[in-house]
Amino acid sequence: MRNVTLAKTAGFCFGVDRAIKKLDNAVKCINSPIYTLGPIIHNNQMIQKYDSQNVKIINDLSQVENNSTVVIRSHGVAKSLYDQMGQKNINIIDATCPYVKKVQNIVNEYCMKGYKIIIIGDENHPEVIGVNGWCNNSAIIINNKNNIPIIKMYDKICVVAQTTIIESLFSDIVSEIQKCHCEIKVFNTICSATEERQEEAKLLAKNSDVMIVVGGYDSSNTKKLTEICKVYCDKVIHIETASEIDTKIFKDCKSVGITAGASTPAWIIKEVVQKV
Ligand code: F3S
Repeated sequence: MRNVTLAKTAGFCFGVDRAIKKLDNAVKCINSPIYTLGPIIHNNQMIQKYDSQNVKIINDLSQVENNSTVVIRSHGVAKSLYDQMGQKNINIIDATCPYVKKVQNIVNEYCMKGYKIIIIGDENHPEVIGVNGWCNNSAIIINNKNNIPIIKMYDKICVVAQTTIIESLFSDIVSEIQKCHCEIKVFNTICSATEERQEEAKLLAKNSDVMIVVGGYDSSNTKKLTEICKVYCDKVIHIETASEIDTKIFKDCKSVGITAGASTPAWIIKEVVQKV
């Protein structure tokens, strides 16, 4: 008999759940096309479902007419985009996660107070691009210790984190930054949902012969979960749907752990559990 454990933290986080509810509500109430600035969620199956409900993904505002309805996803966007939407009289459905909004507000406030903003995170991640847009794109974005010497020239520094980065990366970089003799304000803006999910995945991976991570191939938090699990378990697979499971992996396996990224819908997780 194989023991199967599903992580309690698997699936939508608070911010994604909130964004999906806002979009579902808009689909019910609005008869014209609804546009999302980038995919609402890093999950192909959900994107296909929304596409059939006349929800279209755009990359920039030149792709929509004046007076359209545009959803800002949980990652948030730069301040300039709100201004552009105002000029086009766009009906904004703002699903920016409140935790991301908090980072944007810190960056905006401390930039205005004359601090150099440091974002610890991935410069290509939409959340980081959006946050940088709250300090006129002037932030230094760091994702390893090697970039640190260049910040020595600033008198006042404000450090924030991309909400989904690994805690140890943040603390390692912050300890390096603190060696600079300048005024430093540090805001650990890592979302606790991410930490809890990563911690549970770690424990589950330690105690499982096979670990399954369910989530979009483009989802950075799902990829990070997979990385973490690989440190503690020899057999880790990252899948988008149950159909990708090759049952050969369960040979001689007594325990299977399952976790899922923040953008993985409950019905996909359920199918995976059933197949296992
Ligand atoms: Fe928000 Fe945390 Fe999710 S920042 S979008 S609740 S991972």
